[in-house]
Amino acid sequence: MQAQQHTPYTLITGASMGIGKAFAGACARKGRNLLLVAFPDGQLEEVQRELLAVFSVSVLIFPVDLTQADAAQRLVRFCEEKKLAIDILINNAGMGAGGLFENIPLEKYLQIIDLNNKAMVSLCHRFLPLLQAQERAYVLNMSSMEATLPLPYKAVYTGSKNFVYAFSLALREEQQPGPVSVTVVCPGPVLTNPEALMRANAHGKRARWVMCSPEEVADLALKGLFRGKAVVVPGRVNQALVRLMKLVPTSLKMRLLERLFRVYRNH
Ligand SMILES: NC(=O)c1ccc[n+]([C@@H]2O[C@H](COP(=O)([O-])OP(=O)(O)OC[C@H]3O[C@@H](n4cnc5c(N)ncnc54)[C@H](OP(=O)(O)O)[C@@H]3O)[C@@H](O)[C@H]2O)c1
Repeated sequence: MQAQQHTPYTLITGASMGIGKAFAGACARKGRNLLLVAFPDGQLEEVQRELLAVFSVSVLIFPVDLTQADAAQRLVRFCEEKKLAIDILINNAGMGAGGLFENIPLEKYLQIIDLNNKAMVSLCHRFLPLLQAQERAYVLNMSSMEATLPLPYKAVYTGSKNFVYAFSLALREEQQPGPVSVTVVCPGPVLTNPEALMRANAHGKRARWVMCSPEEVADLALKGLFRGKAVVVPGRVNQALVRLMKLVPTSLKMRLLERLFRVYRNH
């Protein structure tokens, strides 16, 4: 379908698989036009074909490595050239690494920070003027439950998601009373990629209590987004855990988390 120029688009990063693909499906079901972004490896085209076969919405794709310094700028230029109005920005693309801090190459950590933090800040900064031009607009940033529960053996990922969390809450306050509403989403484990499966298996049955499907995360996150919620933690057990852990002294909490996540040490 051709770009419908005056109907707003939802921009979703990391839309080729996992939670991002679930966001794309959920938004298409709501009749929203989509601009999907992911690493240029051919998977995005497949998602575009799948969605166009089922939904009567416009699905545009923009394959790009978001860790490139000019990626956000090129994406804005694409929207301006196509005269696309963007009213929802979903910063979902992210990556992580688990293991003893010094055992993972520094380059991998810098890549995580480039994608989870630098790309997200660049997209928020570049797209804010476009979002502010709308009557009502939304930013959804994907953090993690780990933002509030710092995980040993995932120190850089945890730190990067803590950045997403704090940044989103601060930006949200700056943008009150609108038109842009900012929501941060903090899922627990979600079975998406082989690494997520490996981590879930390492925890055995315990993981099932807190596990959500990508579709559940996307649906609950969008519900929270449209209600203007500041923070969305998908899953009742996960919400209870986050609340409970706030009551535990930090030193005890960290010792507990180290014991629970020691299984990642040699990943
Ligand atoms: N899975 C979990 O357990 C979990 C839990 C809490 C939070 N989260 C967060 O939720 C978000 C989605 O997680 P997920 O598990 O669904 O991820 P995923 O299945 O690994 O998918 C990651 C997506 O990001 C894209 N991507 C990766 N590097 C990129 C780059 N340099 N430039 C552009 N796109 C890039 C991938 O594109 P390609 O497929 O083309 O490579 C893919 O579409 C992440 O921010 C993650 O940290 C995940």
